[in-house]
Amino acid sequence: MRLSRYFLPVLKEAPSDAQIVSHQLMLRAGMIRQEAAGIYAWLPLGLRVLNKIEQIVREEMDRAGAIELLMPTIQLADLWRESGRYDDYGDEMLRITDRHKRELLFGPTAEEVVTDIFRASIKSYKDLPKNLYNIQWKFRDERRPRFGVMRGREFFMKDAYSFDLDADGARKSYNRMFVAYLNLFARMGLKAVPMRADTGPIGGDLSHEFIVLAETGESAVFCHKDLVEMPAPGPNLDWINGDLQPIVNQRTALYAATEEMHDEAVFNALPESDRLSARGIEVGHIFSFGTKYSEPMKATVQGPDGQQVPVQMGSYGVGVSRLLGAIIEASHDDGGIIWPESVAPFDVGIVNMRQGDAACDAACETAYNALKAAGRDVLYDDTDARGGAKFATMDLIGLPWQLIVGPKGIAEGVVEIKNRKTGERHTASLESVLDGLTKSKTA
Ligand SMILES: Nc1ncnc2c1ncn2[C@@H]1O[C@H](COP(=O)(O)OP(=O)(O)O)[C@@H](O)[C@H]1O
Ligand SMILES: [Mg+2]
Repeated sequence: MRLSRYFLPVLKEAPSDAQIVSHQLMLRAGMIRQEAAGIYAWLPLGLRVLNKIEQIVREEMDRAGAIELLMPTIQLADLWRESGRYDDYGDEMLRITDRHKRELLFGPTAEEVVTDIFRASIKSYKDLPKNLYNIQWKFRDERRPRFGVMRGREFFMKDAYSFDLDADGARKSYNRMFVAYLNLFARMGLKAVPMRADTGPIGGDLSHEFIVLAETGESAVFCHKDLVEMPAPGPNLDWINGDLQPIVNQRTALYAATEEMHDEAVFNALPESDRLSARGIEVGHIFSFGTKYSEPMKATVQGPDGQQVPVQMGSYGVGVSRLLGAIIEASHDDGGIIWPESVAPFDVGIVNMRQGDAACDAACETAYNALKAAGRDVLYDDTDARGGAKFATMDLIGLPWQLIVGPKGIAEGVVEIKNRKTGERHTASLESVLDGLTKSKTA
C-alpha cells in the first residue's frame, strides 16, 4: 500500500476524552472513529488488525474442532422469552420493533439462537459432541461505555457453544476451549491468565475468565505469579480424543480469581513471593452451564437407552474488538504502538527520506515490489512529508519493521532497517535487508 493513496488520518494529539493509552493511540493512529457513545467506525488500519485477530481466533477454534457458522445480529424476542431471559436482561438489551410490530432485539449474545438451530436438526446422541461458533457484532447498551473498544456498546465477539450428552462430555468440551484459549492469546503476544470467575446472568457452575494484566484493567485480580509466565501448550495436541485435563489442572491447581470469586484467606495463605495482586482486562470468558437453556427450550436428544435427554451446554466468548485495546495496553512505548508481528496491520513500513530523488525513489520501488512479491504486507510512505514526521508516524502505527531509504545511504549503497520493538537499527545493502525481510516470515 502506498501511503499517498491510503486513508490514514493520524492525529498529533489524542482527543481529551480518551483516558487510557490504548484508546488514545487507536485514535491517534487513525484506527477507529467514534460515531456515537461506544459505537465506532473501523478505519482501514484498525480493520486490518481486527481482521488479523479474527483470523487467529478462527484458526484456533477450527483446530479445536469447533465449526463456524454465522448467526444474525437481529433476533426474535420470542426466542428469548422461551429461555426466560427476555425480561431478565434489562436495559442492556437494545429492543427493536419492526413494521409489523414484531418484537426484535440486537443480539447481546446468542445462546437462544444457537439452541434453536441445534434443536431443529440434532436429535440423537450419535451426532454429539458439537461445538458451533460465530464471530459476529454484538450490542449491549452498556451504562458506561468507555475506554474506546474496551467497553463498547457495539463490539465484535467470537462466541462458541458446545453441546454434549452428559457432564463428562461437557467437561471435555470445556477443556478443549480452555486450552484453545491459552494458545490463541499466546499467538497474539499476550499473557492471558485463566481465573475462576463468577457465572453472572448466564448461570452455571464452571467458569473461567481469561485476563490480561494491565494497570488500566477494569477488574481487580489475584493470582499465583507462576501463572503469568506459564507457556501455552501449543497446537500439537490430540484435540479430539486426547485428555486435556492435565493441561487444565496444571493451571487451575494454582490460585487465580477475579474480584467476585476472590477468597482473601486462601490467597493470603500463599507465600508472599507467590502472590500477585493486580488489575486485569477480561479478554475471554468460558462457561459450562448444563441444561440451563436446553431444558426450557427443549433441546433434547435421544440417548443410547432411547430416552430423551436435554443436552449439556457451554458457551465460550472472546472479545475480538476488545483485544486490540488489550494488546496495545500490553505493548506500546512513548512513541506509539508496538504490534506483535502476528497481528500487525502491515509487516514492514518503507520510509523514503527524500521523495522525488531518483535514486531514493528507485530503491524504494525495488523494495516495495520485492516485499509484496514475497507476500509481505507493506506500507510505503511515498509522501513528501519531512523525514521526522515520517518516523513519528511509523513509530505511532507500530509496524514491526521500518526500512529507511535516504540519499546519503543510497550514495554509499546502503539502507537502514529498524526494529520497532527493540529500537535497534542497522545499516546494510538493500539486497541483504530484503533478503532478511523476505525470509523471516512473521508467525
Ligand atoms: N462492552 C463490551 N465491549 C467490548 N468487549 C466486550 C464487552 N462486553 C464483553 N466483551 C468481551 O466479550 C467477552 C464475552 O462477554 P461476556 O463474558 O458475556 O460479557 P461480560 O463479562 O460483560 O458479562 C468478554 O470476555 C469480553 O472480552
Ligand atoms: Mg464475562
